[in-house]
Amino acid sequence: MSSYARVASLKTPEQFLAHLAGLGIELPLAPTLLTGPDAPLAAPVPLGRLTAGNRFAVLPMEGWDGTLDGRPSELTIRRWTHFGQSGAKLIWGGEAFAVRHDGRANPNQLVMGPHAEGDLTRLRETLVSAHATSFGTTSDLVVGLQLTHSGRYARPDPDGQPRPFIVYRHPLLDRRLPPGTVLTLMSDADIERLVDDFVAAARVAARAGFHFVDIKHCHGYLAHELLSGVDRPGRFGGSFENRTRFLRLVVDGIRAAQPGLDIGVRLSAFDSIPYSKNGDGVGRPTADAEGYRYAFSALRDPGALPNLDDARRLLQLLRELDVRLVCISAGSPYYNPHIQRPALFPPSDGYLPPEDPLVGVARQIQVTSQLKRAFPDLVLVGSAYSYLQEWLPHVAQAMVQQRGVDVVGIGRMILAYPTLPADVLAGRPLQRKSICRTFSDCTTGPRHGLVSGCFPLDRFYAAHPDAARLKEVKARLP
Ligand SMILES: Cc1cc2nc3c(=O)[nH]c(=O)nc-3n(C[C@H](O)[C@H](O)[C@H](O)COP(=O)(O)O)c2cc1C
Repeated sequence: MSSYARVASLKTPEQFLAHLAGLGIELPLAPTLLTGPDAPLAAPVPLGRLTAGNRFAVLPMEGWDGTLDGRPSELTIRRWTHFGQSGAKLIWGGEAFAVRHDGRANPNQLVMGPHAEGDLTRLRETLVSAHATSFGTTSDLVVGLQLTHSGRYARPDPDGQPRPFIVYRHPLLDRRLPPGTVLTLMSDADIERLVDDFVAAARVAARAGFHFVDIKHCHGYLAHELLSGVDRPGRFGGSFENRTRFLRLVVDGIRAAQPGLDIGVRLSAFDSIPYSKNGDGVGRPTADAEGYRYAFSALRDPGALPNLDDARRLLQLLRELDVRLVCISAGSPYYNPHIQRPALFPPSDGYLPPEDPLVGVARQIQVTSQLKRAFPDLVLVGSAYSYLQEWLPHVAQAMVQQRGVDVVGIGRMILAYPTLPADVLAGRPLQRKSICRTFSDCTTGPRHGLVSGCFPLDRFYAAHPDAARLKEVKARLP
């Protein structure tokens, strides 16, 4: 159990700010939440050809609940309905959609197939009509689809076993795979074929009515791994130009095939050496971070901000490619979850947080703000706000007011409390019993073959048969 102060115990702005000061971090906090059409969080945001009607986004949140042939289930539809009811006007990707079977991160991930166009059309329409029912207009609702290949983290088949596709041999991560795992090292020709699969999936997304596709470059999945392939020979490794060739080819391919479709990129804007559980249960870097070469924008000293040179170069490239929608994330849920999704309670394959989770929140928020200052013409969506809990709206408003971010993305909180954005915008007090406390059951469940969802706070999941299974799994954990 972590010894960090619980956010719920920091009851006043003074207590919250004093706690932050004690941690040596700063986060802006709006003293009063403004509501009404002129409120900062209610301001429309131009996204190139489109405009989103306010400053909240739903981040992509998959549920490990598709059918084995990659189609949405009732649970998927329920989640997308909640996305529509949230009040957020930007839906960043919905959830990771695998462009082909071998790119699925789990046997229940949504995947391209003969039914994809119909399924995606229905999913999007479900979300849009839920939004219309709750809020009337949908002309200012922007919906994207996240396209992915899970690469090193592919587990596509019903046996749930790893079938990794890697783009270079990684000295630390390769060792984490179970003995006997066959690693497929992708050739340049394999990567070129994957470009075609991304373009084909983008075509289907456009026909299904999505406004944009996110070419996912985060969290250790394939396209993110390509960015750090500094030792890879050939056309897709080594130089920055080669490591971003996949991105450029996919962008060019989509533009040629589907000129009306917008493009976004979700990026792990920094990364660190992999962490693992120490004897005391706390996360520690697996090796000396000093000589580690495989972090794209490396965070070497957790007490300082990462070196953002790589991220800046990538954003500059996106600007040159006229890709203006960028969602900033960080790290990976597999090898540094405290960086990617700060939580008080670790998932079962994680470790106790090595820092107060608020430090992780502040890091992502500050990095986003630095990048926003350097690229004011790009639209940046921020992540990792959920752990702010009661203070989420206050930090969100202040960040938007300071132009440290364009749109505040919400992930886990949407599972626990889907209508938080609507409540904030309407000036309703937060429903405290629905606030995500980062128990990580939404990650622990899937790590054991169960569906994801907010088991502690969403009554629907508390009554789901997987809740009892999750309890058994947790009781058996060391
Ligand atoms: C259960 C679960 C599912 C997620 N699914 C995705 C996904 O499909 N694609 C993605 O880019 N990120 C995914 N994420 C990461 C979130 O989008 C987000 O970056 C992270 O939870 C931090 O934001 P938060 O603090 O608001 O939760 C997932 C996270 C969780 C906990």
